[in-house]
Amino acid sequence: MSYLAKNYNRKKISFKKGKGSYLYSANGKRYLDFVQGIAVNSLGHAFPKLVKVINKQSKKLWHVSNAFIIPEGEMLAKKLVKKTFAQRVIFQNSGAEATEAAIKVARRYFYSIGKPKKNRILCIKNSFHGRTLAAIYASGSKKMTEGFGPKIPGFDHIEFKNVKPRFPNIRNKIKNNTAAIMVETILGEGGIKPIPEKCLQYLRKICNEKKILLILDEVQCGIGRSGDFFAFEKSKVKPDIVPIAKGIGGGFPIGAVLMTKKVANGMTPGSHGSTFGGNPLAMAVGCTVMDVISNKSFLKNVKKNSQYFHKKLNILKSKYPKIIKEVRGRGYLIGLKLHVKQTLFIKKLIENKLLTIRAAENTVRILPPLNVKKSELDEALEIIDKVCVKYKL
Ligand SMILES: Cc1ncc(COP(=O)(O)O)c(C=O)c1O
Repeated sequence: MSYLAKNYNRKKISFKKGKGSYLYSANGKRYLDFVQGIAVNSLGHAFPKLVKVINKQSKKLWHVSNAFIIPEGEMLAKKLVKKTFAQRVIFQNSGAEATEAAIKVARRYFYSIGKPKKNRILCIKNSFHGRTLAAIYASGSKKMTEGFGPKIPGFDHIEFKNVKPRFPNIRNKIKNNTAAIMVETILGEGGIKPIPEKCLQYLRKICNEKKILLILDEVQCGIGRSGDFFAFEKSKVKPDIVPIAKGIGGGFPIGAVLMTKKVANGMTPGSHGSTFGGNPLAMAVGCTVMDVISNKSFLKNVKKNSQYFHKKLNILKSKYPKIIKEVRGRGYLIGLKLHVKQTLFIKKLIENKLLTIRAAENTVRILPPLNVKKSELDEALEIIDKVCVKYKL
């Protein structure tokens, strides 16, 4: 008997401990964990530096109100600013809070320059920005909004197509009251679909022309997961606002919205806040994650090893063309789009001790920790091969 509400369809496994890329189940089995809390444990389970910092900070100070200066938060904000396009940061606790804060920052900016009616946000239909009321209506997915009306106004939608033109009719969708375009740089839940560099550049160009803001949601694809610190870096595009979460806490809940100084001007005292956001414990952990991931050789390694993994996955695709349709994604945000049923494939991988998770479009999401060993990638490849061989087509 579980006293939890049934809003999840949970797999019948629970874990008692984790170490690096592995999880150990309550009944003593070892699993290669390529879910990692859905791209959250960027450095794997129980990463020694994170264990150390959380122990040390827990003995000093856990929580103080944002009514006071929090040096650990000042430090993490500085690290984020030094590393990225951002000039200002607001801390939150989750991805949805970060995307909501991003929307608030955009609206408040136009309010602060005397254009309060410029408040609509243009998003991709069936994208994913979280589960709060505003975020589900931003995502524009029927499944997520069903039963949660009345509709939260203020969001318009464009299609993101797999073929050109990727954003049909986008110019006509931007009205005088549009404040911003908000997209995931790589659509995660939507099936691991990167927005091509040219399209990101095109979005920036339109935003400049129409004098509106570009929000790139890097909650899932940011903090090194794509092989670059931010997935948009390759395109050389500079966004105005970027919500982050997941990987920055390495397993500890942290969300943040990064922004330019120009848009941050609207966020005057009292305009936004969070009781827990930016607490010393979370910030100390975030600083350590940043120190590890920001290291040039760390990201170089992510790129090199993930390219090897993609290459090998593509070889499996050629070997099993009736099972694997496409290898999608970048870095360690990987999707295997299948011909066969995704749920059954995931079940077979679990039976062989490899954990993965679903995404839309019949895609299996593979999310190793960023510091995964090459031998562990090989182990996963062997399991996928083994599952494919046994497939009865
Ligand atoms: C791109 C994106 N934005 C926002 C969110 C919401 O994050 P959270 O579940 O922490 O609220 C997610 C979560 O998967 C995400 O992938």
